[in-house]
Amino acid sequence: MEQYPKHIGIIMDGNGRWATERNLPRMEGHKAGAKNLKRLLKHILKKDIPCVSIFAFSTENFRRSQEEVQALMTLFMNYFDKELSFLIKQNVRVCFSGRAKPLPEGVLKNMRKLEEMTKNNGPKTLNICINYGGQDELVDAVKAISEEVQAGQYAIEEIDRNTIEEHLYQKLPPLDFVIRTSGEQRISNFMLWQSAYAEYYFPKVYFPDFDEEAFDESLMVYQNRNRRYGGDNEKKNS
Ligand code: IPE
Ligand code: IPE
Ligand code: MG
Repeated sequence: MEQYPKHIGIIMDGNGRWATERNLPRMEGHKAGAKNLKRLLKHILKKDIPCVSIFAFSTENFRRSQEEVQALMTLFMNYFDKELSFLIKQNVRVCFSGRAKPLPEGVLKNMRKLEEMTKNNGPKTLNICINYGGQDELVDAVKAISEEVQAGQYAIEEIDRNTIEEHLYQKLPPLDFVIRTSGEQRISNFMLWQSAYAEYYFPKVYFPDFDEEAFDESLMVYQNRNRRYGGDNEKKNS
C-alpha cells in the first residue's frame, strides 16, 4: 500500500536562477513559480495528503532589494485574493505562519480574508509560511509561555513538548517530508520544530519546473525511505 505523508513541506526555491538562466528579470521567475504552485496544489489535492506547508517568503528575505521585495508583496497580495480563491470551493482550509510586521496592510488584508473564507473548510489544510522564520517562531512561543507562567497559569515544571506545540503559529501535524527544490541542501530556517523527524529531499530542478511528474517522483522517494524515529524498527514509513 502506498504511504502518503500526512504533512508535506515545500521550500519553493530557485525562481531567481530559473529567470536568470533565461535572461529574464528575477520577478519573471517568481511569476512562473506562482503559476506552477497553483498547478501543483491542484495535483497534490487529488492525493491523500491532509496537510501541506509552503515556504513563500522568509523573514530573512526582507534583506533583498527593495524592488524585489515590493514586487513580491504585490504578487502575494493579488495571489491570495485571486489565484488561491479556488481553494474555497475545494474545501481546503488556508492558514498562515509568520509574523505580521512588517508585511504591508494590503497583503495582510487578503491573508485574513482567505483565512476567514476557508476557516470552516477541512480537513485538508494549506499552511503558507510568509515573513516566517523557524527560530522566530520558537522565540514567539517562549515569550508567550513566559507570560503565561508569569501570570500564574502554570508552573515552569509543567512545561513540556505539548506546551511548545500549543504555542506555535499553527496547530499542525509533524512534518513527514520536506522537499526543497533548486539543489540547495539546507533548511533556511523552515519549520525547525515541526521537522524534527522529517525526511528531506533536494531535487535539482528550480521551483518553476517542479511539475506534477517531479512531485510524484519525490513521493516515490519518500515511500522508499526507512523511518525509524530513533528506534530499531526496520518497517518502512511506520
Ligand atoms: C525562492 O526563489 C522564492 C523566494 C525566496 C521568495 P529565490 O528567489 O530564492 O530563487 P534563487 O534561489 O535566487 O534562484
Ligand atoms: C528559502 O529560500 C526561503 C523560501 C524559499 C521562501 P532562500 O533562497 O531565501 O534561502 P537561502 O538564502 O538560499 O538560504
Ligand atoms: Mg533562493
